Amino acid sequence: MAFEFLSADIAQQKQRARYRVRQCVAEQNGRYVKIDNKSYLNFSSNDYLGLNHHKDINQALVVGAERFGTCASGSSLITGYSYAHQALENDICDWLNQPKCLLFASGFSANNALMHALGHESCQLYLDKLSHASLIDGALASKAKVKRFLHNDTAQLQRFLTKNTKSSDNDAIELNKVIVSEGVFSMDGDQADVESLSKLSQQHNALLYLDDAHSIGVIGNKGQGSSSIADIDIIMGTFGKSIATSGAFVACNELLADYLVNFSRHYIYSTAISPALAWATKKSIEIIQRDHWRREKITELSQLLATKLSSSVQLIKNSSSIHAIVIGDELNTLNVCQKLREKGIWLSAIRPPTVPNNSSRLRVTITSSHEIKDINYLANCINEVIT
Ligand SMILES: Cc1ncc(COP(=O)(O)O)c(C=O)c1O
Repeated sequence: MAFEFLSADIAQQKQRARYRVRQCVAEQNGRYVKIDNKSYLNFSSNDYLGLNHHKDINQALVVGAERFGTCASGSSLITGYSYAHQALENDICDWLNQPKCLLFASGFSANNALMHALGHESCQLYLDKLSHASLIDGALASKAKVKRFLHNDTAQLQRFLTKNTKSSDNDAIELNKVIVSEGVFSMDGDQADVESLSKLSQQHNALLYLDDAHSIGVIGNKGQGSSSIADIDIIMGTFGKSIATSGAFVACNELLADYLVNFSRHYIYSTAISPALAWATKKSIEIIQRDHWRREKITELSQLLATKLSSSVQLIKNSSSIHAIVIGDELNTLNVCQKLREKGIWLSAIRPPTVPNNSSRLRVTITSSHEIKDINYLANCINEVIT
């Protein structure tokens, strides 16, 4: 039969307890989610700062739609680049102290675009082992040499950087090096050692590229993410998580931005993001810089969770919104999720290949919309179900 691999791969996925289905959400915010007519406490949302449904952002969306339209009606190099996009880019540059910023349709696309642009044959890309799929795919599809260092192992990275300095084809040519990492790791919630990465990049004349999808808004006194910790050459941030809109940005120097405008296929051959959404995103970033209480609440609730969980629960401790509880086996993890669901808690099971084999987990996200009683209830339920 033609295309037999489709059904064979699905059957194998089911057999390994890795089969995935979508759930249609009727309503959600950073605290609750309604599915199949039942309301659950939501601990799977990336709306870390509770800004989805914020009335000022909604209003900016309406104003943006009336002024600029819902659609860019073209790619950025034709007629898609509007005042709304430019104003948003300028705000991001000021926020992160970067000379230039470009907007992309998604974080996936932005990461792919940058790995492609920096993936010239004269380049060597050094990626943290736990880098997002969009970084790995982009790097492996590029012309660059790719080396992956053990998660957060800056000593190994230093050895790699010291060892590979010349192009293998021509000994006279110095390799162009790029260090690539996430600021806060999506599935473990731990942070990169941004200071050490920045120092290493300076010592080895490398560029530092950070994917701040999960740091932006949450880390730093104004939510600047990794930029609040050290100098970073290139920052990618998504709008679809703490910023609560959709799309992504890359902030970098003028030369790289110019290069992307001229050579990035992801940028050139794609419709610019909705200008109405760009206008709403601008408002969201204004709120993020101002509302310190949202970040403070995440820290306070995260500490509470760590103290309330029983010592036999394998929690990866950290100071972000993401708290991973490693269970190991796929089937066990699904069972735990189901038991929590019966208690009114929505948590997704994260299984391979999203995480390494035997490290299936609950990925708990704490948002500023949660209350102390929600965390106490979650911890009690997890203690009961896991131990
Ligand atoms: C670390 C990381 N980078 C990039 C992305 C992709 O961002 P987007 O959802 O905007 O495509 C994600 C989202 O899942 C992510 O977790």
